[in-house]
Amino acid sequence: MSESNLKSMNDLVSLSKRRGFIFQSSEVYGGLGGCWDYGPLGVELKNNVKQRWWKAMTFRRDIEGIDASILMHPLVWKASGHVDGFSDPMVDCKNCKDRFRADQIDLKKNCPKCGAKESFTEPRDFNLMFSTFVGPVRDTAAEVYLRPETAQGIFVNFLNVQGSMRRKLPFGIAQIGKAFRNEITPANFIFRTREFEQMEMQYFIKPGTQKEAMEKWKEIRFRWHLDNGMRADKLRWHKHEKLAHYADEAYDIEYEFPIGWGEMEGIHSRTDFDLSQHQKFSGKNLLYTDQEDGNKKYFPFVLETSVGCDRSLLAVMCDAYRIENEGKGEEERTVMRFHPALAPIKVAIMPLMKKDELQNVAEKLLDDLQKNYRCEYDEAGSIGKRYRRQDEIGTPFCLTVDFDTLTDNAVTVRDRDSMKQERVSLTKIQEYLREKMGF
Ligand code: GAP
Repeated sequence: MSESNLKSMNDLVSLSKRRGFIFQSSEVYGGLGGCWDYGPLGVELKNNVKQRWWKAMTFRRDIEGIDASILMHPLVWKASGHVDGFSDPMVDCKNCKDRFRADQIDLKKNCPKCGAKESFTEPRDFNLMFSTFVGPVRDTAAEVYLRPETAQGIFVNFLNVQGSMRRKLPFGIAQIGKAFRNEITPANFIFRTREFEQMEMQYFIKPGTQKEAMEKWKEIRFRWHLDNGMRADKLRWHKHEKLAHYADEAYDIEYEFPIGWGEMEGIHSRTDFDLSQHQKFSGKNLLYTDQEDGNKKYFPFVLETSVGCDRSLLAVMCDAYRIENEGKGEEERTVMRFHPALAPIKVAIMPLMKKDELQNVAEKLLDDLQKNYRCEYDEAGSIGKRYRRQDEIGTPFCLTVDFDTLTDNAVTVRDRDSMKQERVSLTKIQEYLREKMGF
């Protein structure tokens, strides 16, 4: 049996819509550029990604979690450099009026949209932050921004967390939350969107220890992606040669999407830039007192790990997508080989036929299993078609209740990946699933 990978993002977009993972936002109105909605299976998958990250980052002795607000004092973004520097160079086509990122097209060539010659305006900076107003008066004094990253909510709460949780360096603060960027060219499904979620952790360390912190977090974060079942040959490191204004070293974990290699997670050594800037702009003392080092006062350095939840989910979906027997003349099968912990549905329960005696057993089994696992009950259509649907949504196990069940008190368990079937007693099924899935 041959097996091929995802070749085009369009195939994933169509599977996502067909099977209830991801829909275009406000689709009935023609959609809204750069915004997507997670459907019933998408939200399960996304929650599983977030849960695994949260567990990996906060079920540790040295990290606390927070949930800061999206709207923050506007000076936060002045201090962080976003008001003055968070922009992309933009050009307009004078003919079709479309906008492009100047660094993503060849300005010497014709317009990629309408083909017009020498039609571009001079590049100018376009700030990516969305703004809105707090209160009833819509003037500049009331203008605030939708956060373009979750990190600043962590920096401004550094002393609150450190003091309330009696923390000593090194320790980290983790957060999952929405971020907004008015991207000029959102593209490639959920790869670059205008509204997305980040999973960020800022690790506060003693100045001078950033190299060892970088090595430690690079290893931990790479391992996390592997532990999610990602193929190692689809992941690689990219070292930044040109550093952001706040960083003294930076790496990305990249994934090989069907559109090519793309950043999934950034690991940045951010020095003491953010804390010192917030002290400067707020006028508040944000220095850390090191009781273990003669009460010395200093700004901790920061090692940041920042992964896009949606982008990581996209990589998980691309990685899981396989077609078996493609173009071989044999029966093709599309299967999402999700890691069981990420699979939106863990177990599908299927009575072979719509007969009371089978349905009763299947419903009882559903009641028992869904105390532990997200399950689906499916009794519509042929068993073959039901298996194909579960393969496409990545359900690791299908359990069929048939007429033999009524006498042998066992069900047929079908494995998604091998398609092997075995008979398992109903009294042993919980134990069987726990052992196979590892939870
Ligand atoms: N606090 C650092 C920071 O925000 P970033 O490289 O700008 O760094 C971190 O963003 C991660 O957030 C990226 O690696 C990517 O996964 C995700 N991300 C950034 N912009 C995004 C967008 N427009 N759409 C989806 N994900 C995005």
